[in-house]
Amino acid sequence: MTAEVRSDAAAGDRVDERRPRVVVGVAGGIAAYKACELLRRFTESGHDVTVVPTAAALEFVGAPTWAALSGKPVAADVWNAVHEVPHVRLGQQADLVVVAPATADLLAKAAHGLADDLLTNTLLTARCPVVLAPAMHTEMWEHAATTANVATLRSRGVVVVEPAEGRLTGADTGRGRLPDPVEIFELARDVLARSSAGAAAGELLDLAGRHVVVSAGGTRERLDPVRFLGNRSSGRQGYALARAAAARGARVTLVAANTDLPDPAGVGVVHVETTAELRAAIVDAAGAADAVVMAAAPADFRPTAESDTKIKKSADGSAPTITLEQNPDILAEISAQRARPGQVIVGFAAETGDATGSVLDLARAKLARKGCDLLVVNDVSGGAVFGSADNEAVLLGADGTTSPVPRGSKGALAHVIWDRVTALLASPAP
Ligand code: CTP
Repeated sequence: MTAEVRSDAAAGDRVDERRPRVVVGVAGGIAAYKACELLRRFTESGHDVTVVPTAAALEFVGAPTWAALSGKPVAADVWNAVHEVPHVRLGQQADLVVVAPATADLLAKAAHGLADDLLTNTLLTARCPVVLAPAMHTEMWEHAATTANVATLRSRGVVVVEPAEGRLTGADTGRGRLPDPVEIFELARDVLARSSAGAAAGELLDLAGRHVVVSAGGTRERLDPVRFLGNRSSGRQGYALARAAAARGARVTLVAANTDLPDPAGVGVVHVETTAELRAAIVDAAGAADAVVMAAAPADFRPTAESDTKIKKSADGSAPTITLEQNPDILAEISAQRARPGQVIVGFAAETGDATGSVLDLARAKLARKGCDLLVVNDVSGGAVFGSADNEAVLLGADGTTSPVPRGSKGALAHVIWDRVTALLASPAP
């Protein structure tokens, strides 16, 4: 790519050759207004964005809004600036096409190769990654026709983001809601980053058809109605893992303990509080999973009894005695009793090193004790990792390998972990 700025006078737009070109398609659903936020995220982070609404989308949000937010004229049909052949050019030049919301009608047209407006023409000419974020009523999402269309699109390498559950148009609730546009942006940007880094079409969705389970956050053990024993895990590494897996095409179940992070787009989230609840959710989800990554920090101990009433200070100043009992070790349990042959299990180890050994000595012993395939080791001396956006780790393999991962974003570490998981899934240990 060159640094030249090209002016498309006839089309009235300016294309900066250095910036990734993103087409944001908007189909005609009530969630069209949420695409404004998606568009804003792309433009503010330096992408060259062209918005292509369908005629129905323009009934919900007008062209002036899209033009103002993208800084470009907006066309929905193929009859504008015909000499520029926009129905071919937009798709050919795009680095990424994202459609949010994608209606049942749009999915059907895309699956069958229909091209009766600018957006569907763009989808046919695009050779870049395509992300479709459906939103519709539950009945339409669950209809056999939509299910078949989604399967067809996925089989062709299109990322079809699972809709979220929640309030739909009117008073209805159910599956079919557009995920948080900020999270669609994060997922789409992840897909674009991997494709720009050279991942071939086949490698981009290397977790397609796989079901993965990730745990995140720190469990809490209740002492009384207002107090608990907990830990400092923010859940960010687990969320980054869930988001990265969804961007690689996996069906993802995220078991989240006490986090305050938004649900990643396309990820099924199960919220839990205690280690016992986390264990139940993991064991349940692991039954159908190809891989389980235990990034959560489960409390190792719980009070032997939870007080129904608030524990009061005593008049004589003596502190109460709290007796604890040990929680089950979930990672050791699911590693020892694999739900499926070839299932890959990954653990994390937050270590500080002590008189008995270095961080790596303790981690190697933990890997053997837990029986998982891969252990992601963080040196947490001084509370280094908790709540931070970055992470640095060493991956210890059950095959004896040691691979340092330099400091980088939690998203980058997530992809290194999935690289290892996909390799293990492709060639399971004998
Ligand atoms: N883990 C688990 N169940 C527990 C505790 C931990 O599944 N009750 C998992 C964590 O999710 C992590 C790995 O085990 O993937 C290691 O967690 P860590 O807290 O480092 O290990 P512990 O088993 O608690 O060992 P330690 O005695 O060092 O605290």
